[in-house]
Amino acid sequence: MKVLVVGASRGIGLEFVRQYRAEGAEVTATARDDAGLERLRGLGATGLRLDVADAASASGLAWQIEGAAFDVAIVNAGVTAHRASGLDAPTEADFDHVMRTNVLGPMRVLPQIADTGALARGGRIAVLSSRMGSIGARASTGSSLYRASKAALNSVLKDASLVLGERAICVALHPGWVRTDMGGAGAELDVATSVADMRRVIAGLAPGRSGSFLNHDGTTIPW
Ligand SMILES: NC(=O)c1ccc[n+]([C@@H]2O[C@H](COP(=O)([O-])OP(=O)(O)OC[C@H]3O[C@@H](n4cnc5c(N)ncnc54)[C@H](OP(=O)(O)O)[C@@H]3O)[C@@H](O)[C@H]2O)c1
Repeated sequence: MKVLVVGASRGIGLEFVRQYRAEGAEVTATARDDAGLERLRGLGATGLRLDVADAASASGLAWQIEGAAFDVAIVNAGVTAHRASGLDAPTEADFDHVMRTNVLGPMRVLPQIADTGALARGGRIAVLSSRMGSIGARASTGSSLYRASKAALNSVLKDASLVLGERAICVALHPGWVRTDMGGAGAELDVATSVADMRRVIAGLAPGRSGSFLNHDGTTIPW
């Protein structure tokens, strides 16, 4: 079993590395700084330096994973936005930061995973989306920029599933509201439970589920 986790220095990404290593998988994972890379190596993973929001850094992924034939690739890197309410316009700086990381980042990384033999035939690709990006399930407002970024990410994931066809199973996952730096101390789920759930969902994916938006418990979330 070979696994790639993009954005794994802490939180949900680091927990994916911990759990896949614990079950004996060969894991390659990325971080932006030395401390993050050190944590990954401490878990026995191969650490790669990667900033998905930086064009030069992100474009350097392909040659490092060429031919790796990962069974599972997880694109986890993401940032949240200021929790503006209603229709407050974001600043350009906030817009650029969130959209570059949450949308442009995966748009840069996914083709490199798909085009370089990095993914095993029939491999699984999961992007960490959020229920907050769902338009169909939306009942409240707030964090409009973050919501828009995850809705856009979902669109990118759907395209990836259509482009890759039978070559891969591609899904957008909602991890739940999870106790990490992003989710905060008051969140509902501990990170170990969320990641264990998502690993179970990824492992059980049938080809017919490619192009779906799934909760951590495997149920479908409306786009
Ligand atoms: N926690 C929740 O309740 C929740 C709910 C729904 C969805 N999600 C999604 O789940 C994913 C992980 O969330 P989390 O709670 O683990 O967040 P987190 O604790 O804030 O961790 C975010 C991770 O993304 C990395 N990252 C951020 N910007 C990056 C960039 N430009 N290039 C590469 N890596 C970058 C961070 O690396 P650094 O250490 O270098 O910053 C860190 O490893 C995100 O996509 C998030 O939107 C989380």
